[in-house]
Amino acid sequence: MIPPLTFRFIKKASAVTLREIITLYRAQGWWGRRDKPGLLPRLIKGSHCFVVAEREGRVIGIGRAISDGVGDAYIQDVTVLKSERGTGAGSEIVKAIARRLKTDGIKWIGLIAQDNSSPFYARLGFKLMKRARPMLSKGSIGLVTE
Ligand SMILES: CC(C)(COP(=O)(O)OP(=O)(O)OC[C@H]1O[C@@H](n2cnc3c(N)ncnc32)[C@H](O)[C@@H]1OP(=O)(O)O)[C@@H](O)C(=O)NCCC(=O)NCCS
Repeated sequence: MIPPLTFRFIKKASAVTLREIITLYRAQGWWGRRDKPGLLPRLIKGSHCFVVAEREGRVIGIGRAISDGVGDAYIQDVTVLKSERGTGAGSEIVKAIARRLKTDGIKWIGLIAQDNSSPFYARLGFKLMKRARPMLSKGSIGLVTE
């Protein structure tokens, strides 16, 4: 039998958990050589919420929301270890974050669906925004097409 997945919101994490989270960020190319591991605890603490999915105590997926805590929130950094994809972890992470945000009274929940992931979010009830495109300020680290 496959060991069950568990999900928990964290505000701080053990050194082992922090390393596992960084492994996920690195695998996705969201954590570069110049990003300091020492900043991760602040990133977690400063997020509105940060969820880890674990199997047998090992972090296999993450996701978080940044928010003013009142009206609006963005979901980001949703990723699952390649070997664990397709088992429902990604969906459960997004659902857990969305539930938490709604419980906290947040009515506007947005995200940027990177790497053609919009069908994944569409299955979870997200819709494309009309007359809107994500943009990055000059000098930001990220993919810019123009
Ligand atoms: C997107 C991601 C988080 C999904 O995680 P996951 O654990 O595989 O998701 P689930 O198992 O809950 O998948 C739910 C369904 O969505 C589909 N799906 C998953 N990723 C998809 C994608 N990128 N595009 C289209 N459909 C996708 C799955 O095939 C599955 O469908 P099925 O039930 O018919 O098989 C994972 O593929 C990932 O980490 N990708 C890299 C990072 C990324 O793109 N993050 C999102 C953008 S910020």
